[in-house]
Amino acid sequence: MDIKNLTDDFGVEVRNFDCSKKIGYDELNLLKKTIQDRHFICFKNQKLDGDTLATFTKNFGKLEAYPEKDKTKGKIEIFNVSNVSEDGEHLDPDDQRVILQKNNSRWHTDSSYRYLPSVFSILYGQETLPPEVGGQTQFSNMLLAYDHLPEDKKILLEPLHQVHSYNDIRRLEPGLPELTYEEKSNFPPVTHPIVRVHPDRNFRKSLYFTSNTSLEIGGMSLEQGKELHKWLVDYIGQPKFCYTHKWQKNDLIMWDNRVLLHRVIPYDYAKYRRAMIRGTVEGEVPVLGPFSNEVRLNNN
Ligand code: OGA
Ligand code: MN
Repeated sequence: MDIKNLTDDFGVEVRNFDCSKKIGYDELNLLKKTIQDRHFICFKNQKLDGDTLATFTKNFGKLEAYPEKDKTKGKIEIFNVSNVSEDGEHLDPDDQRVILQKNNSRWHTDSSYRYLPSVFSILYGQETLPPEVGGQTQFSNMLLAYDHLPEDKKILLEPLHQVHSYNDIRRLEPGLPELTYEEKSNFPPVTHPIVRVHPDRNFRKSLYFTSNTSLEIGGMSLEQGKELHKWLVDYIGQPKFCYTHKWQKNDLIMWDNRVLLHRVIPYDYAKYRRAMIRGTVEGEVPVLGPFSNEVRLNNN
């Protein structure tokens, strides 16, 4: 396998490696170290289907299931990130599966509406678009963004949190149909700290928030919370924190949801087809903030 850095700060490209084959112990360790150190990997020229993507994903942990039964119209552990149906039909822009793609164009980290958000997302480009028409996936590094915050912002943000609610995505995308009672009860709203710590990085701090579940920061007045949220979105979108992935067909990209936020650059959903499938690695630990017991014990 050949590994090349994509930017000075994060991301690598991997060539001459087949993700559909069984991975050896040493190779898997190298990949685990690479994703830990670089947060983003693009494997070029892959040939995968739902089954082989699921098998590859399971090298890194348990597969996370889609939160709504049957609505991906495919396997519940492999999400269709597409404006194209399982059968290859170009979907109407009002179709809920396309509305969910629109919501992906807001900066976010996957499954933040879970108490245990996902660790890695692994996305395979089956039908991709030339960058002139949109459809690139952009990533922003929250470790870097935190480090560069002005000191007064670090102090302001430290005790704050955000409410993440799967049901409340409907406030941002009113075209989505109502969830069933069961779906709502499976995903009650959760809060996560805006400044999180990483126990596997010596408790280093980073930012953690989304703009696809809510547009407010909690712990202050509604008005102040909205203003601060907007400030954060503009701040983390600065090119110095970002890498923009320009897709080629058969790219397989993998990212660390604990470190990076991402979004898709919007494209004309009615005019162009874009088809991807995603495997997701389930989280096993909650998002820890600077005041959690584990962190205080560690610092004593
Ligand atoms: C996702 C996602 C972005 C894209 O699959 O979680 O946000 O570029 N995708 O489709
Ligand atoms: Mn996403």
